[in-house]
Amino acid sequence: MTASARYDEIADFYAAGWTDALGDPATEGLLRLLGPVAGQRVLEIACGHGRVTRELARRGAQVTGTDLSSAMLAKAEAAEADEPLGVRYLQADVTAAGMLDADPLVAGGFDVVVCNFGLTDIDDLDGAARNAARALRPGGLLAGSLLHPCFPGGEGVSGSWPADGTYRDEGWWRAPDRQSSLRRQVGASHRTLGTYLNTFRRHGLWLDEMAEPAPDPGWTAVAGEQAARCPVFLVIRCVKAEPGNPPSPGRSVPRAGERPADPGPARPRAQPAAPKAQPRMLGPSDRGAVVAVARRQPRHAAAHL
Ligand SMILES: C[S@@+](CC[C@H](N)C(=O)[O-])C[C@H]1O[C@@H](n2cnc3c(N)ncnc32)[C@H](O)[C@@H]1O
Repeated sequence: MTASARYDEIADFYAAGWTDALGDPATEGLLRLLGPVAGQRVLEIACGHGRVTRELARRGAQVTGTDLSSAMLAKAEAAEADEPLGVRYLQADVTAAGMLDADPLVAGGFDVVVCNFGLTDIDDLDGAARNAARALRPGGLLAGSLLHPCFPGGEGVSGSWPADGTYRDEGWWRAPDRQSSLRRQVGASHRTLGTYLNTFRRHGLWLDEMAEPAPDPGWTAVAGEQAARCPVFLVIRCVKAEPGNPPSPGRSVPRAGERPADPGPARPRAQPAAPKAQPRMLGPSDRGAVVAVARRQPRHAAAHL
């Protein structure tokens, strides 16, 4: 089943459980790693129904949100119509070669690419990293949050990989446990931490900072002390280097929007005029029929697990 069909089927369930109240430690950690985004051109990949996209737009960024699922994007567009924030939404597979080629902003036009709880939903990490790197200007940032690839699971909570497998076994799987309400339905792709970092680096996206936020005490009470002793969430920030010119240890990399110490050839920094909110779909969604919508709401944002 394609990722599009997975979320088309559960769009109501997801939107009911993961609202614009962005209280979970991983999303908060992601926003903290990003810092101020006002005036920056931000691309959110796997934006879902746009809850992080909207937050970034409220913080003054000029945001484009992309997702594979037409049902999730329909919700994002409805929210934009209710509260216009100037967000553009594009339906796209972020792993596809030449993705968004027709988009004037894409070829190196973004200061920041964000992916909040989307990396384990994306089947082809290499394709997504390639496109993210292409979308970023040199010195731009890729920031992502996800269930920590080293999280082994807790009481009624699935880990990042199947209980009968090992951390080293990569691949797509469906979490069986009671508390893993989302991953029970849509599954997740497990990759080792090394695979994530090496894939990004292969595409010129160098690790700049990483955080492993602690879960809420309420979650710990459910998942148990053993789980609480392990890494649960991972937030990473990578910087796009010039090809053949990776950041060397100790050298500070420019934050998106800042001028590097050696600016190199002049690059126009003028912001394009804020786009009018004009949702544009890149082709019809032809993946999967919508079936019964799960109505159970996760009790806790950590039900991303
Ligand atoms: C867990 S949701 C995260 C949504 C949003 N970022 C948030 O924080 O609520 C994962 C999203 O990834 C999207 N997705 C999965 N594979 C994708 C792909 N190849 N291209 C674009 N979006 C994809 C799904 O459609 C889904 O909306």
